[in-house]
Amino acid sequence: MSVQATSEDAPRLIVAPDYEALSRRAARVVADTVRRRPRATISLTTGRTPLGLYRTLRHWCGEGRLDLSGVRIVSSEEYVGVGVDADDPVSLFGWLRAEVLKPCGIAEESVLRLAGDAADPAAECRRFDAAIERWGGIDLVVQSIGVNGHFGFNEPGSAPDAGSRVVVLAPSTLESNARYWPDGARLPTHGLAMGVGVTLRARHVLLLAAGKRKAEALARAVDGPIDAAVPCSLLRLAPRLTVLADVEASAALEHVDTGAALEHADTYISSQ
Ligand code: GLP
Repeated sequence: MSVQATSEDAPRLIVAPDYEALSRRAARVVADTVRRRPRATISLTTGRTPLGLYRTLRHWCGEGRLDLSGVRIVSSEEYVGVGVDADDPVSLFGWLRAEVLKPCGIAEESVLRLAGDAADPAAECRRFDAAIERWGGIDLVVQSIGVNGHFGFNEPGSAPDAGSRVVVLAPSTLESNARYWPDGARLPTHGLAMGVGVTLRARHVLLLAAGKRKAEALARAVDGPIDAAVPCSLLRLAPRLTVLADVEASAALEHVDTGAALEHADTYISSQ
């Protein structure tokens, strides 16, 4: 499916010289959201890309520079078959809890997550979407791009209006995810994904891209047509999109002077 892009679709693009700068800049986006709205609802993702962001948030919370105790968190993906107790070794929620929720003092009652072991996964997804609506929608969604252009288990072919649902994980996602767990860990082939439509109703989407493995996917997402074949391109339909990439991930983008980006702590570049 292809959707006509307009000039208003141009995302704000920030190119950071390296992963550390990207992580700090991402943390500033989170901190700005919380300063404006201390009870903000923020959706977080897993994977390696946001780990530097979470490390920075832990650091700032530990130093008392940032207070995340009032925020509500939406955990945007889980593996099918993984329980809500978060002690399952491959639980994505467990990962988020250890990386950011617990160290930043975010109470579990303030967290909305998808139960991978729900008896009726479709009903679980409807419950999740209804809870987000009840919370008044999401202020900030943090996502990262996958090598096939996906975000948060929304694989190629995901419709722009898709609700949260059960998805079959693409081979490249399974391969990326296999690196997270010890050899022999049970690796689910299906996931529960917060839907594209749910994501697009958020007031602000922050898309992270780090490393040269993501360069081609990011170029398709930013410079190509808005098309369900590249789920991250659909994020250009969000009310506000910020793309935050390091220089390596920006290598294939049009209109980006990566040399200039390298000279600044964070460089703001329009993609148009
Ligand atoms: C998880 C996340 C995806 C992410 C993938 C790879 O599967 N649900 O959204 O794209 O990890 O992430 P990374 O390349 O940052 O390790």
